[in-house]
Amino acid sequence: MTADKTMVIGQNVKRIDALGKVTGETPYPGDIDLEGQLWLKLRFSDRAHARVLAVDTSRAAALPGVVRIFTAPDVPQNEYGLGIKDQPVLVGPGSQIAGADVVRCYADCIAVVVAENEAIAAQAAKLIDVTYEDLPAVFDPEAAMQPDAPQIHANRPGNILCHYKIRKGDMAAGWAQADVIVEGEYRTGYQEHAYLQPEAGLGYIDEQGRVAVIVGGQWVHEDQEQIAHALNLPEEQVRVIYPAIGGAFGGREDMSVQIVLALAAWKLRRPVKVIWSREESILYHHKRHPTVIRARWGATKAGKIVAAEATVIGDAGAYSYTTPKVMGNANLCATGPYEIPNIQIDTYGAHTNNLLTGAFRGFGGPQGAFAAEGQMNKLAEALGMDPVALREKNVLREGSLLSVGTPLPPGVSMAQVIEQCARESGWTPAAGGAWQRPAVQPPADAARRRGIGFAAGFKNVGFSFGFPEQSWATVELRGDTNIQEVIVRHAGAEVGQGTHTVMAQMAAQAVGVPLDCVRLITQDTAETLNSGSVSASRMTFMAGNAIKGAAEKALELWNNEERPAIATYQYRPPRTTPYDPETGRAEPNFAYGYVAEAVEVEVDVETGHIHLVRVVCADDVGRAVNPQLVQGQIEGAVVQAQGYATMENLLTQEGRILNPYLSTYLIPTVLDVPDEVKSVILEYADPIGPWGARGMGEMPYLPLAAAITAAVKDATGIWMDSIPLTPERVVAALREHGIGIF
Ligand code: MOS
Repeated sequence: MTADKTMVIGQNVKRIDALGKVTGETPYPGDIDLEGQLWLKLRFSDRAHARVLAVDTSRAAALPGVVRIFTAPDVPQNEYGLGIKDQPVLVGPGSQIAGADVVRCYADCIAVVVAENEAIAAQAAKLIDVTYEDLPAVFDPEAAMQPDAPQIHANRPGNILCHYKIRKGDMAAGWAQADVIVEGEYRTGYQEHAYLQPEAGLGYIDEQGRVAVIVGGQWVHEDQEQIAHALNLPEEQVRVIYPAIGGAFGGREDMSVQIVLALAAWKLRRPVKVIWSREESILYHHKRHPTVIRARWGATKAGKIVAAEATVIGDAGAYSYTTPKVMGNANLCATGPYEIPNIQIDTYGAHTNNLLTGAFRGFGGPQGAFAAEGQMNKLAEALGMDPVALREKNVLREGSLLSVGTPLPPGVSMAQVIEQCARESGWTPAAGGAWQRPAVQPPADAARRRGIGFAAGFKNVGFSFGFPEQSWATVELRGDTNIQEVIVRHAGAEVGQGTHTVMAQMAAQAVGVPLDCVRLITQDTAETLNSGSVSASRMTFMAGNAIKGAAEKALELWNNEERPAIATYQYRPPRTTPYDPETGRAEPNFAYGYVAEAVEVEVDVETGHIHLVRVVCADDVGRAVNPQLVQGQIEGAVVQAQGYATMENLLTQEGRILNPYLSTYLIPTVLDVPDEVKSVILEYADPIGPWGARGMGEMPYLPLAAAITAAVKDATGIWMDSIPLTPERVVAALREHGIGIF
């Protein structure tokens, strides 16, 4: 590695985890075995909504090789949840928590079977006899909000988990100024994370007598807190360790196997292992929230947006999970990165007896952006204006007021990002702020039609909305006259995105040593302080500031001749505030990333298949610590959003998943990806980002679906506002309009 200290940031250094992963030497949770381990299987609910009257384990317990079966009364504090603890660990009678005898979805767990091997555990789980009393169920969030709907939680009238309002300006005055008004109803579906590594892990008693869990997750200290709560143990008695993790995308933010592994190991004092099958993974971890967004926007003839109204309804599933955060972001993104004087939005997260819904790349931002950018493209059409020009007239700039009535933090680059994306995708500036769109080459095949679409987006860095954000780091400098080794302790999880490489680069830069002097100690609660979640595009920003702060303090000690020089630092970003309950007024976030995308599609009007010819993604990342990893994030996000927009169709019937297999739930493969993804990496520094870096993991996901639907409209003349645009749906829309009948 280069010894020039100015060269570590901004370099495409090789990933520090590359060799072990490509050779298969690096263990993932399912690869680890411990002496004398037992195996665990879960028995899930057979009903969408029912009271569990009895759980009879006698037939299962009689099976040779079964060691122990745990049910609701075995869980000391039978509740968990990220944020709001509203889900029983195990559902059944005899629990001290009120309502813990009711299953509210098929993903509720009733019993934990521990056996000598996996096959026996699986067989025993089926032999558990559960007696249910069915309760009326509801599977549509809008139906769930009606007064006569079945109530899923005792304390949530109307099944409303969260309701955010935005009231800005004067709607009547806004509509009076509008020369054109466009309305749209946007529907988005579930999305399965489909990470390579299904849920797996081990619970055991460590050498200090703590209950330890080896698992994949996104925040070791949050897992530790929830395990300790459910087991009624002090947090120091619980240890969470992440080995290598095969993808997360938000799907590991909520608990899966963590608590039950800890429970079994703690009670049995023996190692206990679990590996979920792909089917179990798809059935039992949460999904992206489906939403319905009804929007009405008005603009003047000159292209100034004067009013925007929207109702956003998200299916919160049976338990809260990250719904309040997800719908909060959908609420903010529902008016896009535009300054609009008069806004009225109502955003709801409503409980149903459907699948669990929670975090997934973008945290509700993609749903909001799909509607906002759809509205922008329809307004451009109604005004006869280029979509890039319309965006430039309304874009949020330095000092512009958000829908929540406060300005964005300094470093607003949305206008530059839109302009760069337009230029890179072939738009040319014309007189008077107009733009000339690129010409589309007609395909040779008469059954195919081409079109282009444009969309933009912004996404916050961090949970924010009043959440107390922080990140700890410890830096230890070892050596004599020169610094020989830099040991960095930071809890941040490497889920495959490259964050540990970026952390090592930032540490090397901060201390002024070559990269190979840096050693990381990470993602183990026994070795690191709380650094927060690896989610919400926050880790480069938060870890960078924390490591930088710790490195500066350690260098001071080093210069005072301390050997080793050890310093610990907690980074705390500027304070944020939650939505005002009546007006939505807030200072919601301390940093943002900005993105714009142009897409060229080819629609086969015979088959309804949408092929992506070219995607141009311009993303302001502030500073690309490792440009190749940034490019990887852009390409990955684009393909994941392509799947969301055009392919991934999770079928459910009354709360049950019908296609829990990767053979029937189709995600993009190498044969489906765009012919070309052009990453345009922009570096307008964030004033408070480490070396100017902003978050970027989610941003490229946000605008893609809307850019695709605009391109499909351009190709076919039809707005298709319900995603996924599966071939069946596209064919139906085309035939309805008399297209493609030969
Ligand atoms: Mo996420 S949805 O920020 O892991």
